[in-house]
Amino acid sequence: MKYTSYLFLCLASLVTASEDQFVFSGFTGSNLTVDGAATITEDGLLELTNGEDNIKGHAFYPTPLRFRKSPNGTVQSFSVSFVFSILAKYADRSTDGMAFFIASSKNFSDALPAQYLGLLNDQNNGNRSNNLFAVELDTIQNKELQDMDDNHVGINVNSMKSLDAHYAGFYEDKSDIFRNLTLVIHDAMQVWFDYDGDAKQINVTLAPVKLTKPKRPLVSVTYDLSTVVADPAYIGFSGATGGVINTKHCVLGWSFRMNGPAQSIDISRLPKLPNLSSKSHSSKTLVIILPVATALSIFVVGVLLALCLQRRLRYTEIQEDWEVEFGPHRFSYKDLYGATEGFKDKHLLGVGGFGKVYKGVLPVSKQEVAVKCVSHESSQGTKEFVAEIVSIGQLRHRNLVQLLGYCRRKGELLLVYDYMSNGSLDNYLYCDMTEQTLDWAQRFHIIKGVTSGLLYLHEKWGKIVIHRDIKASNVLLDKDMNARLGDFGLSRLYDHGTDPQTTHLVGTMGYLAPELVFTGKASPLTDIFAFGIFLLEVTCGQRPINNNLQDNQQLMLVDWVVEHWQKGLLPETVDRRLHGNYNVDEACLVLKLGLLCSHPIAMERPTMSQVQRYLDGDVPLPELAPSELKFNMVALMQGQGFDSYVMPCLSLSPVMSIETSAELCYCKSMLAL
Ligand SMILES: Nc1ncnc2c1ncn2[C@@H]1O[C@H](COP(=O)(O)OP(=O)(O)OP(=O)(O)O)[C@@H](O)[C@H]1O
Ligand SMILES: *[C@@H]1O[C@H](CO)[C@@H](O)[C@H](O)[C@H]1NC(C)=O
Ligand SMILES: *[C@@H]1O[C@H](CO)[C@@H](O)[C@H](O)[C@H]1NC(C)=O
Ligand SMILES: *[C@@H]1O[C@H](CO)[C@@H](O)[C@H](O)[C@H]1NC(C)=O
Ligand SMILES: *[C@@H]1O[C@H](CO)[C@@H](O)[C@H](O)[C@H]1NC(C)=O
Ligand SMILES: *[C@@H]1O[C@H](CO)[C@@H](O)[C@H](O)[C@H]1NC(C)=O
Ligand SMILES: *[C@@H]1O[C@H](CO)[C@@H](O)[C@H](O)[C@H]1NC(C)=O
Ligand SMILES: *[C@@H]1O[C@H](CO)[C@@H](O)[C@H](O)[C@H]1NC(C)=O
Ligand SMILES: [Mg+2]
Repeated sequence: MKYTSYLFLCLASLVTASEDQFVFSGFTGSNLTVDGAATITEDGLLELTNGEDNIKGHAFYPTPLRFRKSPNGTVQSFSVSFVFSILAKYADRSTDGMAFFIASSKNFSDALPAQYLGLLNDQNNGNRSNNLFAVELDTIQNKELQDMDDNHVGINVNSMKSLDAHYAGFYEDKSDIFRNLTLVIHDAMQVWFDYDGDAKQINVTLAPVKLTKPKRPLVSVTYDLSTVVADPAYIGFSGATGGVINTKHCVLGWSFRMNGPAQSIDISRLPKLPNLSSKSHSSKTLVIILPVATALSIFVVGVLLALCLQRRLRYTEIQEDWEVEFGPHRFSYKDLYGATEGFKDKHLLGVGGFGKVYKGVLPVSKQEVAVKCVSHESSQGTKEFVAEIVSIGQLRHRNLVQLLGYCRRKGELLLVYDYMSNGSLDNYLYCDMTEQTLDWAQRFHIIKGVTSGLLYLHEKWGKIVIHRDIKASNVLLDKDMNARLGDFGLSRLYDHGTDPQTTHLVGTMGYLAPELVFTGKASPLTDIFAFGIFLLEVTCGQRPINNNLQDNQQLMLVDWVVEHWQKGLLPETVDRRLHGNYNVDEACLVLKLGLLCSHPIAMERPTMSQVQRYLDGDVPLPELAPSELKFNMVALMQGQGFDSYVMPCLSLSPVMSIETSAELCYCKSMLAL
């Protein structure tokens, strides 16, 4: 009897031991669950991302783990270690990072790549109900997530904002001196994660794979994981990329143990890392052939030199010293020339106020892009402009068209954007009655998308970004018909709090706020004005200014909507193409909100966060009488001492002067009120 019970005990402990600990030195034959871009190669290397842009990938230990002894108990001590490598085509530059995580489910379908590392999205970021814990290895600085730099290890609880983070590196055991490490480097590194369930202490330690675990941890915080970790919970890795820097996030080995130190990973058995950067072929045959080849090449070089010179002239571009720091954001003219087959007309997507837009396919990644050619003078302002372009490139949001980079030539600036397969919104709004237009649900979805994009620009990023050219043709539709706001080429950046300076008036007729016409100063409120016009445009399916053929008058869409509202006929302004199939409450809400946003008095306009609350129905729209809109327009004109000779719109930038006659008419029509 005694003997059998002893045997039983022995068996039980064996089972728990195998359940509560594991070690993988390479992942051949392991049954990790992978999703997204993640794969396990033949060599047993776990690749979370594959070098493509804007993707995410996950790998999970197949079964969930019980971190608590009893359902109501606290999370026990445990420890994890893993060997990883972030490989990038460009030395020490990568997007976006990877993480070890503990999560309540294996379903990360809603998570976004790029700065969200495939773990969260802009909606659930920071929400306590995420039950997500992560150790991030972050190689991009995202100011809106308060990242400290572009090479840090952070501890994240339910949020992409780290609880605590530290520049990547380790403390030497003997001297206690801090040694920096670069996360993006071809050599593998190891991370140790230890949690003490009694002291509620988390330690994270990093070191090159050749070293043993340093005594002093890199990051150490006191945090009770019982408040975060679900029971049971999955553990795994996530990797995500953003823009065009070819990056792979790899895990080579992984070890875990509940209630004890994780078994060490056998470094000698780890899989080999692939060569992502330039391939070097060295072989014995080459050594033999070399002398022969040298003689031959001397002859060939002469011929090539002549050819190169000719080529040079075709692909010539400008690069100055200060641009080197923007390295990866720069495209070579050759690549863009190739991508668009020499800027052939058949790839022309459209022509805007600044130049032509071509469709292209990037040579290596085969990514589809839109290349916008803007003519510019190589003057003093260029440096600031390019610096701005680069910082604009850091803006990432699911409702913005991602700027991937630029290329500069003499007199020409090429901006490279994500290609939006469904084109711009204006094509759908102003099509013939017979062509298929957007139904109301699609329109409402687009409106909400643009709202969220503009809210990000105005309030969510570290700096206020004024778009300056909101209109239907700058709203592009991706393959899933999500709205993405494009064309930041015109925006200027302001730090929070500083006064926007006067610059050239840029924008498009019919979307210009009155104060912008008077003063030339753009502000978030002038964007809101244009956004208001945009709301009316989408709902009514009409351009902001319509030519009335009969009496050669220009009819403002705003006025037309206000008039209908006054007569109690607001729903009649909704686009006829919808054939009455729309949600009347939503449509009227959007129309009234559009009028409120394009209120002639700037201070009366709502902010974007208010707009979002109105649209979500969280807050009712304030009472607004149609007559107020008209009366104030007149008062405003008088208040500004407006008369037909003071026309600031005449002394504006070249963009404006093309449209000056139209602008005059607009001013006239405002005066006529
Ligand atoms: N990223 C993109 N993906 C797909 N098509 C695009 C993209 N960017 C622009 N286009 C297409 O190219 C056309 C021209 O764009 P462009 O921005 O030059 O002009 P615009 O928007 O009409 O005016 P503006 O110069 O004021 O922005 C657009 O109407 C759109 O159809
Ligand atoms: C893989 O999973 C199966 C069942 O889920 C399990 O029996 C097996 O032991 C696992 N293999 C490894 C190496 O974990
Ligand atoms: C666990 O907590 C729940 C509510 O929080 C309680 O109803 C239950 O009795 C507790 N169980 C134990 C074993 O303490
Ligand atoms: C994952 O979650 C999304 C929504 O959150 C849901 O639509 C989808 O069906 C889920 N997938 C699985 C496999 O459970
Ligand atoms: C957090 O998420 C839950 C469930 O997804 C949701 O009900 C709740 O509104 C969210 N809270 C916040 C503050 O967003
Ligand atoms: C380590 O990184 C810090 C922070 O960027 C930097 O100030 C310091 O010069 C670096 N030290 C070395 C040795 O690279
Ligand atoms: C974390 O590090 C501190 C300082 O080195 C050490 O005292 C503590 O025991 C460590 N805790 C864990 C859980 O490893
Ligand atoms: C990678 O490069 C190293 C030298 O840089 C070379 O020894 C190795 O064979 C290469 N591996 C592959 C798979 O090309
Ligand atoms: Mg545009």
